[in-house]
Amino acid sequence: MIGEKIKSAINEQIKYELESFYVYLSMTAYFHQLNLNGMAHWMRCQAHEEMIHAMKFYDHILDRGGRVTLLDLKQIKTNWKAPLEAWKDAYEHEKFITAKINNLVKISREENDYTSEPLLAWFLNEQIEEEKNTDKVARELAMIGDSQDGILMLDRELAARIFTAGSPLDPAAYNVAV
Ligand code: FEO
Repeated sequence: MIGEKIKSAINEQIKYELESFYVYLSMTAYFHQLNLNGMAHWMRCQAHEEMIHAMKFYDHILDRGGRVTLLDLKQIKTNWKAPLEAWKDAYEHEKFITAKINNLVKISREENDYTSEPLLAWFLNEQIEEEKNTDKVARELAMIGDSQDGILMLDRELAARIFTAGSPLDPAAYNVAV
């Protein structure tokens, strides 16, 4: 049975992961509007990945006999001045999520909740990737500047992202590193 304090903190993390889904879906819509379909594709994959993250936490509570209570999502940003601003926001968002995961680790240690350690270790590693990927594109866009050719080349590169984790409806998808 999961303890009340760690359950409540993980329950809140479901909200942050769902907000992440919403943030990346909003960026998907923004890039589609700019006809940057590679970036839109990358963001849509990312949104899908965030839904899987939310469901990993959801199932962790469920598997340990807890009750999930979904919380309100905040209104997220729907427009950006330029692609660089969106990618910088994505990087900042991932740093925010990393801080939340770190806090979950802290609570699990204070509560001696060793059972959540494998799941949280997975998320600690995942956050390294999440920060690295968004920061890389933001840095590249900063180097490209106003070059339309450069932006189109990067857009084509990001169109190649392959998403293999399956559907968030499929529990097998949660066991795949995404
Ligand atoms: Fe689920 Fe991008 O953190």
